[in-house]
Amino acid sequence: MNIVILSKGSANYTTKRLKEVAVERGHRVRIVNYGQCYMAVEKGNPVVYYEGEKLSDIDAIIPRIAQSYTKYGSAVVRQFEMQGVYTTASSIAIVRSRDKLRAYQLMAKAGVGVPKTVFALETANFEDVLDLVGGAPAIIKVARGTHGNGVVLAETRKAAKAVMQAFYVEGVSFLVQEYVEESAGTDIRALVVGGRVVASIKRQSLDDDFRSNTHQGGIGKAVKLTEEEEKTAIKAAKAMGLPICGVDMMRSNRGPLVLEINSSASIKTPELVTKRDVAEKIIEYVEHNATQRPRKDKVGA
Ligand SMILES: Nc1ncnc2c1ncn2[C@@H]1O[C@H](COP(=O)(O)OP(=O)(O)O)[C@@H](O)[C@H]1O
Ligand SMILES: [Mg+2]
Repeated sequence: MNIVILSKGSANYTTKRLKEVAVERGHRVRIVNYGQCYMAVEKGNPVVYYEGEKLSDIDAIIPRIAQSYTKYGSAVVRQFEMQGVYTTASSIAIVRSRDKLRAYQLMAKAGVGVPKTVFALETANFEDVLDLVGGAPAIIKVARGTHGNGVVLAETRKAAKAVMQAFYVEGVSFLVQEYVEESAGTDIRALVVGGRVVASIKRQSLDDDFRSNTHQGGIGKAVKLTEEEEKTAIKAAKAMGLPICGVDMMRSNRGPLVLEINSSASIKTPELVTKRDVAEKIIEYVEHNATQRPRKDKVGA
């Protein structure tokens, strides 16, 4: 097969591993920096150009779109979709997973446990908003944040009010969430490939930060999921229409609560600590699915 990995970092662990495994399995693989792709849009002829050349005869793309490039990156993915090229993550699923409000709405509807969350644009009713999540301490987070940046633990009502007002005056969309204290500083990431969990890790913050993101200095360890956690991860992936993704969950007193779904999850820590060959699972999935007719997105939102 002719496979294109859309990635801005050819030295990135995940990108390198996917390429290595695909080449081992006899595929032709090219890493394409989607930020440098340009697209010609004209009637009936959707083309993607890269380094002066038309990208054609591609059987599958594996998008690894960075959060800050969601709009352009997903447009490149869409351009390939218009040509009928198979993609491991559809442009619509990438976009929807990047919006926390949209993701929580879809997961809650699908019966996936999520932390109690309230969205508001205005701060006029902030007392009520805060009461709805059980008062302080509460979590306030930017709707399109990532790597733990933009997630605040407001310990008091006063602090919560000030943070909400700050986001409001800056015009930043935010959400207010119950603080799941029993899970503070840890979360679980399950990597889902084609309706199965292929690796799972527990992330723990090193200092007393409540955020466990490895970008904030957290470390990852292999963890065995409970049956309920495994089912939740699979259900969440399905609800988002992402056959390959990372599902972040907290272990709460009332079972797993999903925090977010990552359409370009890193496989680095999961592979290194679980010794599972996640890249191989992904390439196998591509082999089995790329030749089939593209499935319609059934999420509907
Ligand atoms: N409601 C919450 N209660 C307790 N800890 C939380 C809560 N929400 C987030 N966290 C912690 O903060 C981290 C980052 O939150 P997350 O929603 O995943 O934002 P980001 O997209 O920035 O990673 C999580 O991994 C978790 O450790
Ligand atoms: Mg996160």
